[in-house]
Formats: sequence, structure tokens, C-alpha cells
Amino acid sequence: MKFSDNIADDEWEWYIGQLFSRIIKNVNKTNIKNVVEIAPGFRYKIAYALKEINFNGKLYVIDTNTEVLKYVNEKYKLLLPNVKIICINKEFKNAFNDIPEKIDLLLSNHCIDDMIISEYMQNYYNKNLNSENFRDMLTKAWIELGREPIKINEINNGVFLTFKNFFSNKKINTIIISQYKSNLYFKDKFKEMDEITEQCFNKIKELVIMDNTHINKILDFYPFGDDERYMGKYLLDNTQNAKNWIVGKYKK
Ligand SMILES: C[S@@+](CC[C@H](N)C(=O)[O-])C[C@H]1O[C@@H](n2cnc3c(N)ncnc32)[C@H](O)[C@@H]1O
Repeated sequence: MKFSDNIADDEWEWYIGQLFSRIIKNVNKTNIKNVVEIAPGFRYKIAYALKEINFNGKLYVIDTNTEVLKYVNEKYKLLLPNVKIICINKEFKNAFNDIPEKIDLLLSNHCIDDMIISEYMQNYYNKNLNSENFRDMLTKAWIELGREPIKINEINNGVFLTFKNFFSNKKINTIIISQYKSNLYFKDKFKEMDEITEQCFNKIKELVIMDNTHINKILDFYPFGDDERYMGKYLLDNTQNAKNWIVGKYKK
């Protein structure tokens, strides 16, 4: 493999993948042929989820970064040898025509924050995504954006409308999008990213018919058994709470 993926914590990738697969198994009862994933980054949680459900159809992966798509092509093929992977190197809002009208699953892990900040940073985001100090650049950009309420509204509204248009233009059987809080949020110094993103995420969530009680029951499961690192309030209130997931169908 050409790309070094040692920055991804494999256990974490698998854990989030297990949450996705458990939701898929419990919510989507139809045969799954066409799946769309938005903005994987140099990660593979969704690949783990699809492996768990023995998926063998077509996977459309949308990401603006060409290096990410090269990575996806290599990494996902190892995990999903029987899946046809179609990479779409476009911004999500410009990729609608590259995706079939009927979609069985729309999946994305933690993409809303990236869609917001990439819109704010413009070319600077994509150009630097793979650079060593990208984390610092992101933090700086979020803090700057936090001081611009008009810009926040404009960008959040744009991202919201992209999802609304996508949901209304396509026939999607099940939408599953997660947006749990980052580690940074719990360290009290840096809240801009999660707070700005939460506003946008909650608006998108309103577009979907969702049974939070049912999803919380589904998320009440422990892929690592009684491993106490995965039993704390931090995770159960966060990654395993329906408030941080969008699961269901478009309301119309
Ligand atoms: C940090 S990754 C996302 C997190 C990842 N899904 C995970 O599971 O951890 C961010 C990715 O979003 C992509 N991205 C950002 N804005 C996008 C947009 N508007 N459309 C498509 N991809 C976008 C970037 O190129 C990058 O690969």
C-alpha cells in the first residue's frame, strides 16, 4: 500500500464501523445494491460497516481530494473485494449527476464539519488536507469562522440546502449520517467546530423521519464487550446517542 494509514486508529475505525453496521442491519430491510458515501477522508469506518453486512454491490464514494480517492481505492478494495467502487472526485453539491437516482443507503461519518470548513477555507483546505500541520490550520480557521456570524449562517445554510436538494432529488431508502462531538469539544478550550456544526446538523436532521427511541435501543450495544474504555459516559452519550445521528427517510 502506497499510503501510510498509521494515522488512523484501526480500533476506532472498526468501532464506528460496527455502530453503522448495526444500524444498517436493524433499519434497512431491503436488498442493498447501491450505496453512496460522502467524504471518507483517509479513513475506512464505512468500509468496515459494509464488510460486516457482506455488501457486494456498487459503492459511490464522493470526495474532493484526489489523494483520498486513491487511498480509498486501495484500502477499500482490501476490505471489500467484491464491491465495485466508483470514485467521484467532486464536491458533494456538484456530484448529484454522477450518482444513480435510486440509492439504497446514503452513508457518511462526521462529514458536516468538513463540508462547512472546506467551504470557508476554499482551495486552501483541499491543498493542505494531507499536510502535517493541517490540524493547526483547521483550528485557526474554525476560531476565525466563529467570529463571523453572518458567514456561519451563509455557509450552514448552503450545506443544509445541498442535503435538502440531494434528499429531494434522489430516492434514498435509508440515510445514515453521524456527527458526534470531537475530543476537542470536551477539552473546554475549543468549541467552535462542534457548536457551529451542531446547528447545521440539527437542521439537516429535521429533514428526516427518525425514531430516536428506536435508534437509541439499536445503539445500546457493546462491540468491545465490557472493555471499560468503551463503557464511559463520554462515548455512550456521544457516539452511541441518537442525538448525534441522522437515520431514516427524507420527510418530503
Ligand atoms: C476528515 S475527513 C472526514 C471524516 C471521515 N469521514 C471519518 O470517518 O473520520 C474529511 C474529508 O471530507 C472531504 N470533503 C470536505 N468537503 C467536502 C465536500 N464539500 N464534498 C466532498 N468531500 C468533501 C475532504 O476532502 C476530506 O477527505
